[in-house]
Amino acid sequence: MTKLEKAINFTKENMEKIQNRPLYHLTPQIGWLNDPNGFCEYKGEYHLFYQHYPYGTTWGDMHWGHGVSKDLVKWDYNDIAMANDTIADANGCFSGSAIEKNGELYLMYTGHINPNYGFDEDIDQLLQHQCIARSKDGIKFEKAKENPVISRELLPKEYKISDFRDPKVWEKGGVYYAVHAVKNTMNRGELILYKSKDLVEWEFLAPLFQTDFSENKMLECPDFFHLDGKEVLIYSGMPCMPEFEGTILNTIEYHIGSLDYNTGIFTSESKGYLDYGDSYYAPQTTGDSKGRRLLVAWMKKWTSSYIQLPKEFEWNGMMTMVRELKIVDGKLVQLPLKELNNYAESKLRIENEPLVGEKNIIKDKISAKKVSLLLEKMNEKVVLEIFNDTRIEFEKNRFGYISDFYNKKEEYFLEESILDEEGKLKVEVYIDLYSIEILVNGGKNSFTYTNFNVDKNINVNIKSNKEVLIRELEVFDLNI
Ligand code: FRU
Repeated sequence: MTKLEKAINFTKENMEKIQNRPLYHLTPQIGWLNDPNGFCEYKGEYHLFYQHYPYGTTWGDMHWGHGVSKDLVKWDYNDIAMANDTIADANGCFSGSAIEKNGELYLMYTGHINPNYGFDEDIDQLLQHQCIARSKDGIKFEKAKENPVISRELLPKEYKISDFRDPKVWEKGGVYYAVHAVKNTMNRGELILYKSKDLVEWEFLAPLFQTDFSENKMLECPDFFHLDGKEVLIYSGMPCMPEFEGTILNTIEYHIGSLDYNTGIFTSESKGYLDYGDSYYAPQTTGDSKGRRLLVAWMKKWTSSYIQLPKEFEWNGMMTMVRELKIVDGKLVQLPLKELNNYAESKLRIENEPLVGEKNIIKDKISAKKVSLLLEKMNEKVVLEIFNDTRIEFEKNRFGYISDFYNKKEEYFLEESILDEEGKLKVEVYIDLYSIEILVNGGKNSFTYTNFNVDKNINVNIKSNKEVLIRELEVFDLNI
């Protein structure tokens, strides 16, 4: 039995044990999930691969798990697509992306090699290079005999082969381009660009993007795409060196600007953060046949070191809901997926009602819900309480998230205006069994949180100490 067959069999034999999956967020079949990989539409279905270790709920030898969906809301699985089973990816098939070429689906990913087993760890000895695999049916993948297709020899000397990963590939004018995360010899993260005529032979084009030396960041999982007449670059920043752990936050940044395809240099015109919540990392996008740019990320909590996963869980890791991206006034805006409306059933609607004190708007066992809220004349603090352990506070110039999960108080505040130009506050809250996703001000701000408190009812209350006018409030069941 091959390593891949073993993983597929193990998964099939054990995944039925899992009875506690969220309702519309993709989880691993069993075991561990991290980054979204190879997000694409191929032969009429959406494919969302993921970094995957089937045999436990912590990170391990990276395989590529494989989610499929017709509408990006209901997810199913294909067999695990890749295991780390060749010399080129001996210790992991790390993150990467997908592209269709001549009717075949190509995966481009990082082969990770760790020759330190049995020795004292020396991270400079790690080897990361780029590989491809392809498929005619989108289910079974064959790794190229030419792997690695971007090897050590093609990496300029000023970069470290130990941190060279996460290719995001696209095509323009018959040429393929792939942007990669890399660490330079000064131990700082950069993004570098390669090009190819056929996805097999690659050449180094340029250092596409750097952050300031003082930021001390590694820029993982880059994404690049064309949207609304501009080019957009996204990356996930993490501390470059272990000694900065805890002092530098994991931040997900975007830049809107333009790429000069001759020089390979990207010029940023505006920038921002993609999400302000504590559970968001490694987003990846794809275009689709409806002309949309779709976005999905790994919901991972970075702020706390205590164990978040209840003991009985045999899976660990979820994707966010899929969202649509647009550029509005130089900002990247996230819109909820239209397909979710097909599952939404209105349960409560309030219009033009003054609120003072507290009002219960949902009393139910935990399930999938959407709450949309429009408030005007925001002179007072308005609070949404969810799950009895989470408070979301909206104020004119401040957003707050306070969670008391397992009595470990966590607080987060964003000190900036979250109102639209007319001074209105528009909020959409998407709740699933273990997550809350909040889109504020037409998706200009997004906040993603996970919450693994399993002893909970959903109970949503809205509160204000002084009178406010609820212009609109609607609660929907999401019957997924
Ligand atoms: C980001 C990341 C990637 C890497 C993968 C390995 O979470 O560190 O850079 O390819 O995870 O699982």
